[in-house]
Amino acid sequence: MGNGIAHTAGAAGLNVTLIDVEGSILDRAVNTISSNLQRGVDKGRMSADEKQAALGRIRIAADDQAIANADIVVEAIIEKFDAKRALFQKLDTLAPKECVLASNTSSISITRIGASTRRADKVIGMHFFNPVPVMTLVEVIRGMATSDDTYQRVEDLAKRMGKTTIEVNDYPGFVSNRVLMPMINEAIFALHEGVATAEAIDGVMKLGMNHPMGPLQLADFIGLDVCLSILRVLEEGFGDPKYRPCPLLVKMVDAGWLGKKTARGFYTYGK
Ligand code: 3HC
Repeated sequence: MGNGIAHTAGAAGLNVTLIDVEGSILDRAVNTISSNLQRGVDKGRMSADEKQAALGRIRIAADDQAIANADIVVEAIIEKFDAKRALFQKLDTLAPKECVLASNTSSISITRIGASTRRADKVIGMHFFNPVPVMTLVEVIRGMATSDDTYQRVEDLAKRMGKTTIEVNDYPGFVSNRVLMPMINEAIFALHEGVATAEAIDGVMKLGMNHPMGPLQLADFIGLDVCLSILRVLEEGFGDPKYRPCPLLVKMVDAGWLGKKTARGFYTYGK
């Protein structure tokens, strides 16, 4: 999601630095941003010059030191608490004192992430939705210690990026994934139990409920590993077996069939 966030910020006139530890991922991200910005040019929503200007505002860096002058950092790494804690501890030492540290986590406790830093008042959830340039929502999650000033700064940033914010409190999966993931999991159970084919399950939800994508196609699009991680957070956080991930989802993640990004999930995808 990092490239979608950088794309949206750059197109909104903000200077942004996209950081990853791997240079090849950064190169791929810039290519993706360029081709996604081109969609806007092709549709006449943006000129070729505006596209170049947006790209020009996006710097890339393979070193966390690049946050030394940041006003706001938006973390979008893997959905694992230990990885996020280690990163936030590092960011806390590198970022300017007044810098807000936001997480694009899908489900992990902002309170816990905040407590791993010495600036819990400046730690907040800024949860974007894929594809970021298209989806208007940013779910803003307050941790127990998040200050009003931090909330305001993130709301202002989201608005500058053309997004609509909705404020929620810090509970596992927040609102979005507490509602979405049980639906996706149930669709996987329906497939696992042979209730219908993947196409039929998705067809029912698209034609019957007017969803733009069926739940299995959406799971492929989000990433099956991400879906599983979120369900584990819900299961552990609430201690309620109703969030138990479907064994088929677990097996597919074990197989490395992670959805669109690996070209195989509930559907297969071209290169
Ligand atoms: N970047 C920029 N623009 C994009 C894009 C991208 N990556 N992907 C699609 N678009 C634009 C297209 O250019 C097109 O623009 P237009 O309306 O001006 O023509 C528009 O989006 C629609 O795209 P398409 O015509 O190619 O395809 P669809 O009509 O099938 O729409 C979709 C694609 C927008 C992805 C739609 O299927 C959809 O809304 N799907 C559901 C997405 C969703 O639920 N996202 C949330 C996932 S949950 C999440 O992210 C949270 C996390 O915590 C798990």
